[in-house]
Amino acid sequence: MKVCVIGLGYIGLPTAAILANKGHNVAGMDVSQRVLDDIRTQGATPEEPGLADLVLGELESGRFTLSDKPEAADVFIICLPTPILPNKKADMSYVEKGVKSILPLLQKGNMIILESTVPPRTTSDLVAGMVKEIGLDPENDIDLAFAPERVIPGNILVELSTLDRVIGGLTPRAASRAKELYSCFVTGEIVITDSTTAEFVKLVENSYRDVNIAFANELAQLSYDFGIDVRDAILIANRHPRVNILQPGPGVGGHCIAVDPYFIIDGAPETSRMLKLARIVNTEMPELVVKTLKDMLGSLQNKTITILGLAYKADVGDCRESPALEVMRILESRGAKCKVHDPYVKNAGFELYELAEAMEGSDAVLVTTGHTDFKDIDPKIMLEKAKGNSILDTRRVLDRTKWAEAGWDFRYLGDGKK
Ligand SMILES: NC(=O)c1ccc[n+]([C@@H]2O[C@H](COP(=O)([O-])OP(=O)(O)OC[C@H]3O[C@@H](n4cnc5c(N)ncnc54)[C@H](O)[C@@H]3O)[C@@H](O)[C@H]2O)c1
Repeated sequence: MKVCVIGLGYIGLPTAAILANKGHNVAGMDVSQRVLDDIRTQGATPEEPGLADLVLGELESGRFTLSDKPEAADVFIICLPTPILPNKKADMSYVEKGVKSILPLLQKGNMIILESTVPPRTTSDLVAGMVKEIGLDPENDIDLAFAPERVIPGNILVELSTLDRVIGGLTPRAASRAKELYSCFVTGEIVITDSTTAEFVKLVENSYRDVNIAFANELAQLSYDFGIDVRDAILIANRHPRVNILQPGPGVGGHCIAVDPYFIIDGAPETSRMLKLARIVNTEMPELVVKTLKDMLGSLQNKTITILGLAYKADVGDCRESPALEVMRILESRGAKCKVHDPYVKNAGFELYELAEAMEGSDAVLVTTGHTDFKDIDPKIMLEKAKGNSILDTRRVLDRTKWAEAGWDFRYLGDGKK
């Protein structure tokens, strides 16, 4: 089959390469010349094991081609961004533009598969509506399906194949046709349903995580009311065979868990009470972090705070929606200066420091990402460089005993015993 993949980012590139590897002719399309040049020269980021070799191999074979314009195809797969707008609505402009760009190429019998995470009813209302506008029947002339992704960056190639998948069709025929295409590389089970259920399921999965993290974060807040260490409480509670509480932290980041619940909330704000509350609890966490640090320092005015970790989670360089950014914003609004060190983040849009530089003149250290590398930091050397000796670890990545023995006033977030 000829497949045109629109958008060659985290999701589109591996999907395109894997389809080519299974023998399809794949035209990869992206509006960014930089993205296309990077793919041509490097294949893919080295952070995705195996992907660069796969991409370069498929480009070499001629089964995978690159262009800045969409091409006529049997199947169009849309892998475009769906970020959140400041008003907490989904920004559908990329998907709209992407679909618009393929409309002149659409022929009867073609299939459009949407992979972008979208609000419920996007396939049946937005995409089907655009198809109708050019005089084609979205139920009979074209097959429309929604095939969401749940892969994790860093292991995309493995998870793309092995995870179970949900595929929703605007019609049963569209669902089974899309299932047939994905069966060429998905070894997990493919569950088919209608497109709106599949859209809802994708959002529900991340909303479930958000609600559960909010529960853990609320326990961290309660730890100060009751004078307990939340980590001890969670470890003990989790010994119950049917309890599995997640870990609290400085908030929820990333472009999925912190964003997807809003796509449901926006469509049904009155009904989505628990989702809204979870968002409130999780977005309040940076305030709790700053308050805890202020309690340690007395005042934040003119203090230099070393921030360890900008990424939204451990061992990645992605800082989209990272709670560390909000923590920094609040600290700076209260008169502190932040010096950020993150060995994984390449481009933050502001100055990042090497560890030693970040520690120069530091009044306090704040750990906001649990990078594994941080475990090896020598607390004695850090104390020599710093001005103060306060440290707040919001991820419980550092060894409290080691740091305290080296002379640090060490706190974990959610340790109400201190
Ligand atoms: N990255 C993930 O781990 C992940 C996981 C699950 C779901 N998703 C969802 O998948 C979708 C895509 O995410 P991503 O992470 O791959 O995004 P991305 O930002 O990595 O890639 C999107 C690509 O689309 C290109 N683009 C923008 N407008 C275009 C247009 N009109 N035509 C062609 N190309 C265009 C951009 O240049 C970019 O290369 C989003 O809805 C996201 O929420 C992502």
